[in-house]
Amino acid sequence: MSRKVIVTGGAGVIGQAICRRLLESGFEPVAADLQDAVATLDTADPALADMTTVVMDVTDRGSVEQAVAAVVAPGETLRGVVNCAGILRDSFLGELDEAKLDLMFQVNIAGMARVTDVCAPLLAAGSAIVNVGSLTGHFGRFRGASVYGATKAGIAAYTRYTAEELAERGIRVNNVAPGVIRAPMSPSMARVSGGEEVSASYAMLKRIGEPHEVAEAVEFLLSDRASFITAQTLLVDGGVVAW
Ligand SMILES: NC(=O)c1ccc[n+]([C@@H]2O[C@H](COP(=O)([O-])OP(=O)(O)OC[C@H]3O[C@@H](n4cnc5c(N)ncnc54)[C@H](O)[C@@H]3O)[C@@H](O)[C@H]2O)c1
Repeated sequence: MSRKVIVTGGAGVIGQAICRRLLESGFEPVAADLQDAVATLDTADPALADMTTVVMDVTDRGSVEQAVAAVVAPGETLRGVVNCAGILRDSFLGELDEAKLDLMFQVNIAGMARVTDVCAPLLAAGSAIVNVGSLTGHFGRFRGASVYGATKAGIAAYTRYTAEELAERGIRVNNVAPGVIRAPMSPSMARVSGGEEVSASYAMLKRIGEPHEVAEAVEFLLSDRASFITAQTLLVDGGVVAW
C-alpha cells in the first residue's frame, strides 16, 4: 500500500511538525503549500531535506488538481490527506472586512472541501484523512475570532459528513482541533487570543501547546492504530473546552 500523504499547509509551523512526525513513522508526506511558503521551507533541517514539496493554492481548484497530478502518478494511490492549510484574520463586529471574510472561508472551508474532493478518488481502502480544525470552533472567549471560529466549527461538521460518505470504502476521516500552539503570532492572532499568557490561563495545563503535540495526534489518527476511530473531533487544547 502507498505511504504517500498530502499535507496542505505543509510548510507552516504545525504542517512542518506533522511532516516530521509522519516521516518518523515511515509515511511519505508531501508538503503542499503556497509558492512563497514552499520556498522558505526549512530544508536545512535534515529531517525535511528530502521531503517532496508541491506548490498548491487551496483556493483554486485548478491548482489543487495540478498539484495532486504532479505528485500522484497514474494508477498510484494515496495513504492519506492532512488538511492543515488555514488562515486567521480578526473580524470584530463593526470592522468586518469583506476580503478577510472571503479568504477565511475560501481557505479554511472551501479549500478543505476542494482538496478532499480531488483526493478522495485516489485514497486506498484503509487510508485516512485528518482535518485540522481549532479550539476556536468550540469556544467563545477569543473575541474577534467569530468568522475564523465559524469556519473551524464547520470543519467538525464537514468531517462527520465526509466520514459517512467514505466509510463504505474503508476510509476514515477525523478532525484534530488544536488549542493555542507555539508559533509566531500574527497581529490578528495576538489580538483575538490576548497573547500567550492569556491563552495559557484558559488551559487546565496552564500552558500553550507545542507543534509536535498536534503532530502526535494527527499521526495517530492517520495510522492503523486508530482503525476504529472515525468522524471524531479530538481537541488537543490542554483542557480548555472541558473546563
Ligand atoms: N497556531 C495555532 O495556535 C493554531 C491553533 C489552532 C488551529 N490552528 C490551525 O492549524 C493550521 C496550521 O496553523 P499554523 O499555526 O501552522 O499556521 P501557519 O501560518 O504557520 O501555517 C498555515 C499554512 O497554510 C498555508 N496556506 C495559507 N493559505 C493557503 C492556500 N490558499 N493554499 C495553500 N496553503 C495555504 C500557509 O502558507 C502556511 O504555510 C491552520 O489550519 C490553523 O488554523 C493553529
